[in-house]
Amino acid sequence: MKKGQLRYLNRIMFFCGCMLAIADVSAQAIIPIATENNMLLMQTDDNNRLRTVYFGKPLENEREYKAVVSNYNYDESNAGIYNSAYTPAGTWNLSEPAIQVKHADGNPSLELKYASHKKEQIDANTSVTSILLKDPVYPFEVTLFYKVWKKENVIEQWTEIKHKEKKPVLLQKYASANLYFANKNFYLTSFQGEYLKEMQPVETRLLQGIRTVDSKLGTRAMLLQTPNFILSFGKPASENEGTVMLGQLAWSSNFKLDFEIDSHKNLRLIAGINPFASEYSLAPNETFKTPSLIYALSNNGTGEASRNLHNWVRKHRILDGQGERLTLLNNWEATYFDFDENKIADLFKDAKDLGVDMFLLDDGWFGNKYPRNNDDAGLGDWQENKKKLPSGLGYLVKEAKKEGVKFGIWIEPEMVNPRSELYEKHPDWVIRQPERPEIYYRNQLVLDLSNPEVQDFVFGIVDDLFVKNPELAFIKWDCNAVIYNAYSAYLNKKGIPQSNLYVDYVQGLYKVLQRIRAKYPTVPMMLCSGGGGRGDYEFLKYFTEFWPSDNTEPLERIFLQWDYSYFFPSIATDNHVTDWGKQPLKFRVDVASMGKLGFDIVASKLDTNDKIFCKQAISNYNSFKDIVWHGDMFRLVNPHENDIAALMYVNENKSKAIVFNYLVNNRFSITATKQPVVLNGLDPKKKYAVKEINLYPDISSSLKGDNIFTGDFLMKVGFNPHVTLQRTSVVLEISEVE
Ligand code: GLA
Repeated sequence: MKKGQLRYLNRIMFFCGCMLAIADVSAQAIIPIATENNMLLMQTDDNNRLRTVYFGKPLENEREYKAVVSNYNYDESNAGIYNSAYTPAGTWNLSEPAIQVKHADGNPSLELKYASHKKEQIDANTSVTSILLKDPVYPFEVTLFYKVWKKENVIEQWTEIKHKEKKPVLLQKYASANLYFANKNFYLTSFQGEYLKEMQPVETRLLQGIRTVDSKLGTRAMLLQTPNFILSFGKPASENEGTVMLGQLAWSSNFKLDFEIDSHKNLRLIAGINPFASEYSLAPNETFKTPSLIYALSNNGTGEASRNLHNWVRKHRILDGQGERLTLLNNWEATYFDFDENKIADLFKDAKDLGVDMFLLDDGWFGNKYPRNNDDAGLGDWQENKKKLPSGLGYLVKEAKKEGVKFGIWIEPEMVNPRSELYEKHPDWVIRQPERPEIYYRNQLVLDLSNPEVQDFVFGIVDDLFVKNPELAFIKWDCNAVIYNAYSAYLNKKGIPQSNLYVDYVQGLYKVLQRIRAKYPTVPMMLCSGGGGRGDYEFLKYFTEFWPSDNTEPLERIFLQWDYSYFFPSIATDNHVTDWGKQPLKFRVDVASMGKLGFDIVASKLDTNDKIFCKQAISNYNSFKDIVWHGDMFRLVNPHENDIAALMYVNENKSKAIVFNYLVNNRFSITATKQPVVLNGLDPKKKYAVKEINLYPDISSSLKGDNIFTGDFLMKVGFNPHVTLQRTSVVLEISEVE
């Protein structure tokens, strides 16, 4: 062939190629999932498989969406397609799958091809896109859901799995989300912990291979690792700049988050229920809905992402997120199990005297044959202990009312002590291996909530309390044991595989909570799990708040509350003033005021000045709590990196703010904070007066002058709170002035 002819042929081939490409592309589905500052773009390939082709700032021109793919040149290695939008196992894929199944006929292969998609606009800010994928060989389908809150830049992603095979299909892995990020240098912050040391952040650069964050504890799943994470793109996460994703798998049990750097150095994220011991048997025509992966994205650092998440949690997730909360006095650390009704009734007076809204009666009020006088007996027997409370709970509710305080109560309804009447009557309601020695965690076992009878029993505990005491104002719902010896007598009887237990347990628990909320929609409930073992976004649909840790030592608490604040608004976290640690009372009260304030001290033993201080601080709290609960939070000075910590809350119209400052490093005596704390979130044009509050009686602030500054000044230069060894905690009230 002559040169000219060859060029001509090449041109024709090029032209045909373009035509082909265009024809092909036009036949392909392109699906954008966009928030105000982020876009996830998916597109089908020549084989009709759905891939993630872009994740980043929104592309402005819709017509250019299709051009993204041609700019990447990934040779598909032997591991399969890395950017599959939901990676199946058993066919072309040899990398970590999102889904793995065994069909009714025992065949382990799955292929998922794009079938259709639709977008439903719920309101101007909210939409749900669903994408149907089908196996071409088996009657098996998966629908991917993406719910978007545009303004908040929050996405909730989940999957529904269904089939019409002749018998049940075994779901061996069934992730909620499978994301792909073509970026370089990914930094992951995960949150590790243990009892009293919950929520400790660890940031690492992700290297090739898989980094897994998971839990296999069953109940109190968040104890050792949490389903929360921060992903930072390009560099370690920072507060006010950089692209970050703050996410959580909203599931109240075993979870697994896999962060995999593939051979292109891109990041695959697969998040879902932990497949550990959880092959799920799915009957024909039933739908398995996975939990949601929920994430907020920001191109301006973790601060903005947190504020967006806080708004989203308050508006769309936590029960009564835009409402009020009750301040309280709790008797746990004041009495432990050692009380009777007179002692409790005396504490009502303390609650009233302090000026809190409610008294919370903690553990130890129940059990008769096996009285709950310590933690090795009585759990499960939810009748008032006749010796301690001869006049019953009704009497206490009334006595509290006489003092003008509300009454709340502690329960741990999912659990049982072997030394209980419940255990004697219903050993088959307990999760345990029948042929093996029982293994206890805090001397107790977990009830089998996969069993509808147990669900009725647990619902009945709460229902009974409210039916008998309609004025009961609050419930603290505790959970102190993990699941050992996972085995259900009920599933066995029904011929359902044991590997359904972990999932069926949680779904049974959600059913109970749904029933409680159908009958008692608004009563506040605190979620607690021997400290901070629980507190995910799915639980928060049913609870108004949660208990982040039994560790109430206030210095530790500053770090804990700081780290929880990445994901949870302060209205969600309960903070109690206790006798833990060596910090002065003021320090303890100030720290607990950054959330929902409570007390767990013997208030009658406070000396006069302490009492006056507490009452004044509670009254101050009442004046600014609305800003702490519903305002915008700004993390100003990070205690992990500095001698002080500083955090502020600003109300919606930027007319009022509260700034909390603490000394967190006592190793060197500092004479005064050297630098100002640079504030945030104010209106640069407004003028503000800065005033110190929460001062001890007879102590005047060392901040002299009238301290009036523009927002511009406070957000550029800042303000020095003069934190010193004598002033370890300084609370500033910032108010707009004319
Ligand atoms: C758990 C909770 C505590 C307290 C005790 C009672 O440890 O975290 O706050 O309620 O149980 O036994």
